[in-house]
Formats: sequence, structure tokens, C-alpha cells
Amino acid sequence: MEIRFSEEKMNKVQEIIARYPEGKQKSALIPVLHLAQGEFGGWLDVPVMDYVASLLNILPIEVYEVATFYTMFNMKPVGKHLLEVCHTGPCMVSGSDEIIDYIKEKLGIGPGETTPDGLFTLKPAECLGACGYAPMMQLGKTYREHLTKEKIDQLIEELRGAEAN
Ligand code: FES
Repeated sequence: MEIRFSEEKMNKVQEIIARYPEGKQKSALIPVLHLAQGEFGGWLDVPVMDYVASLLNILPIEVYEVATFYTMFNMKPVGKHLLEVCHTGPCMVSGSDEIIDYIKEKLGIGPGETTPDGLFTLKPAECLGACGYAPMMQLGKTYREHLTKEKIDQLIEELRGAEAN
């Protein structure tokens, strides 16, 4: 697969780079990595990171350092639905461990693993800034809050149902 942004995404990349002074294009790295992750299969393979480095005219290692530091970047393939369950303090005391165990058991996967049908990946996450709604998870661009085992059942059913249709 050729790694190249679509024209539309490339325009977006140029727009992001233009926000920063000449020579400071590295500042565009995080938003460009988000675009790359969205465009190239939901994760950042090494050739994708190298491509981003070439666009920003920086060294590949500068991209690897950032991409591997932040948990919102995936370093290996993920399922279509990424269940990012917060397990930091407030969520933990509100039962996130039980939620994670329940998902593990229900889907037969461990943290960082993907179901064989490629639908779900479980990813424990650090505080997602919604502690008042603990326990919670991020699912794509949405937050699922005050999680219970019943809500997990509903969610999985809903997502599987959407696939079947
Ligand atoms: Fe879970 Fe903050 S601790 S959102």
C-alpha cells in the first residue's frame, strides 16, 4: 500500500504546518499524527511515521519518540472499535477493574488484544478527564459513562448489531 495522504488530508496537513513559524514545523507533529492514524488504518506503522517525518522535514526518531509516548497513538493494529477503559484512581475506585475484567471475559481478549473478528480491541487508558462520570471509557469520539456490566452488554450488542446490518 502506498503511504500518501489524500489531497484533502494533505491540504489539512499544510494548513496545520502553516500555523507555526518557519522552521518550527515539528510543532505540527501531534495533529499530523492524529490525521495519519485516522487515514492509515487506525495505527501508526513505522513507514507511516517515516512518511510523517518526511512531511515535517524532521528525523524519524523524533516522530517515534512522540508517537510511542502518548497512549492515544496505537503502535499496532487495533480493532474497528477501540474500547479505551480508564483505570486511573477515580475510575478504579468506582469499579473500572471489574469493568475491564468483564470485557476481558466477555470478549475473550486481554488488554491490548483484538478479537479474532477484528471488531474490538481492549485498551486500558489513563485518566480521560471525565472522572465525575466514572467508571468510563472512550469509544471513538464518544465517551461512555457510569459503566456497568449491563451497559457493556448493551454496547457490545449494539456494535455487533451495527456490523450485521
Ligand atoms: Fe477516569 Fe479521570 S480517572 S476519567
